[in-house]
Formats: sequence, C-alpha cells, structure tokens
Amino acid sequence: MASVLVTGGAGFIGSHLVESLLARGDRVTVIDDESTGRFANLAGIREHAGLRILRGSVGDSELVSQALGDAAEVYHLAAAVGVALIASQPLQTIERNIYPTQLLLDELCRRHAAGQTIRFFLASTSEVYGKNPKLCWNEEDDLVFGPTTRPRWSYGASKAIDEFLTLACARQFGLPVVIARFFNVVGPRQTGAYGMVLPRFVGAALAGQPLIVHDDGRQVRCFAHVADVVSAVLRLMQSPAALGRVFNIGSDQPISILELARRVVAVAGSSSRVEFQTYAQAYDADFEDIRHRVPDLARLRATIDYQPRFDLDAIIRDVVAWQRGK
Ligand SMILES: NC(=O)c1ccc[n+]([C@@H]2O[C@H](COP(=O)([O-])OP(=O)(O)OC[C@H]3O[C@@H](n4cnc5c(N)ncnc54)[C@H](O)[C@@H]3O)[C@@H](O)[C@H]2O)c1
Repeated sequence: MASVLVTGGAGFIGSHLVESLLARGDRVTVIDDESTGRFANLAGIREHAGLRILRGSVGDSELVSQALGDAAEVYHLAAAVGVALIASQPLQTIERNIYPTQLLLDELCRRHAAGQTIRFFLASTSEVYGKNPKLCWNEEDDLVFGPTTRPRWSYGASKAIDEFLTLACARQFGLPVVIARFFNVVGPRQTGAYGMVLPRFVGAALAGQPLIVHDDGRQVRCFAHVADVVSAVLRLMQSPAALGRVFNIGSDQPISILELARRVVAVAGSSSRVEFQTYAQAYDADFEDIRHRVPDLARLRATIDYQPRFDLDAIIRDVVAWQRGK
C-alpha cells in the first residue's frame, strides 16, 4: 500500500483522483482549505479506512510536513482556478498558485537529499499557452501572454512559474516529476460558480433559463471527462518515460461554445434559449479571451495508451444526470 498526498483533494478533479487512488489500494492524505472545493465532494469515501483529511492550506509548512509522512507520491492540484475568480481576485491567484508550490517542492527536495524520494505531479493548465495563435498547441510551443495590466494572464503566468520551479527541481536535484497541462476538464462535481462553462450551461438548461454565451460564441474549446483525465494522470505517474516532462491532457475534439450551448439544450431536452453577453458585461472591460484552444496529444499518446471513453454527448449526459441528482 503506497502512501500518497493529494493537495486540493476536495476539489472537482482532486476528489475523483482521490477515489481512484483509494480504489487501487493506496493510503491517501488530502489537504484542502475549501477555498473553492468542498469536503462534501468526498462524501462517498469519507469513511474509507485509507483516507486521511487535513483541513488547511498548502501554504502552511507544518501541515505540509505532517501530511507528507512516508508519502511516495504527491499530486499537487491545489490552486486558484477559474477565469471569473482570477479576474476578480488576481492577488490571491498569484499567491495561491506560486508560494505553496515552492514550499512543497522545497520540502520534497530536502527529503530527496535525505533519502526519501517522493514523485511529484503538478496540475498545470492550457492557460500557460496564453494567446499563442497556433491552431493546435504542443508542449514545446511558445507561451504568449498579454500585458500585465490584464489580470487574466496572471493565472497562466503563475502556473508557468510553477512549471519552471518543478522542472528546476528535476534538473538541479533529480526530483522525479510529471507536469500535465489540463484542457477544459469537465464532469460530475464541477461547479459553475467560478465561471466554468459546461456546469453553467447545464444548470441553466435544467432550470429553463437562458444559456449565456460570451461574445459571439465562436471561441473553440475541447472538453474531456474527468474520469479519462484522472486515468491518464495515474498512468503517466507510473510511466518512467513521463519523468521530467510536460504533457497536454484533454480532448482534441474541438467545438465552438455556441455549438456546445445548443448540444446541452438538445441533450438535456430543454426549451431554454441561448443569449449573448459581451466580455465587458461578463467580466470587465479589460478582459481578453483565447479564441482557439486545442491540444496536440501526440506526446501523451506516445507515452501512454490514451483512449478516452467519453465523447461529448456522453459527457453532457453525465453532467445532466449529476445536476439532476443533486
Ligand atoms: N478543471 C479544469 O478544466 C482545469 C483546467 C486546467 C487546469 N486545472 C488545474 O487542475 C487543478 C484542480 O482544478 P479543479 O478544476 O479541480 O478546481 P477546484 O477549485 O475544484 O480544485 C482546487 C482545490 O484546491 C483547493 N485549494 C486551493 N488553494 C488551496 C490551498 N492554498 N491550500 C489547500 N487547498 C487549496 C480548493 O479548495 C479546491 O478544493 C488546479 O490546479 C487547476 O489549475 C483544471
């Protein structure tokens, strides 16, 4: 039985990851401060003998040291997440996304030097590509951010710093690390409260309210089911070929946001209308969006056998079923 630490384990992706780790027989410690997640997300496994829950911040060095114990792996998912949150709280985004990562890595490098080697997984994001104009992004592409006067870019830039820190620990100290850039992960337990589009659309469709599409709705995204993403993360962490490397993880099947809204209405059997809102109305006058976001998954496929089980309609059905059951 391996011992594993999951930061942000009460969050959307974290709670699914914790369930999978327990199912494969690991002992799992979760640290979460419930800033955007909820321990209720772990309700189905709360009584599991292999689960230990610590409420608090990854910025608390004593708590981190206690949580690590004899861990063999750390999955670092705790972060400030969501475009709406980032636009309204840029300072917290930067603090939450950089300092705790640095603290964790310092501790892991210290333990590595003392003979306890802990494999580190960093949850990064497609936002690190910024507004790179290429139609399909691979891991060696340039990061293209907008100006610092637009707080939106602080999310991608802070996660890019996390990647630099993680890779520096791998290079300088030989720490075994894996970095994944997630592209629009969706599924049960994701909240629409911080601007995530699919749970917002499904919530509106089920309530018979209008689905609010930002700008002209021609932004292109790819949506992956959290179960497929978690399965890829676990396999990457078990693959020696993944160590020290960065991977895109997600779906590479593009769809416009307007088309997504129409699919949600159809799958939910809703009579809701689609309405449009400008970015200035949705966020603020400074907001800049990314028009086209599609991952190149060649590196992921060359490293693990990645065959997602959920297509978009199956994903929407799952989110509809979950929101109906809440
Ligand atoms: N959902 C996506 O589509 C997506 C896309 C790209 C990247 N990611 C990354 O995946 C990770 C998980 O995202 P998610 O969608 O599950 O979001 P989430 O908000 O549900 O999960 C983040 C969790 O971290 C916790 N947290 C935040 N700061 C903390 C701190 N300092 N100490 C302790 N706990 C803290 C929150 O309470 C929450 O439970 C994040 O690192 C995010 O950047 C997610």
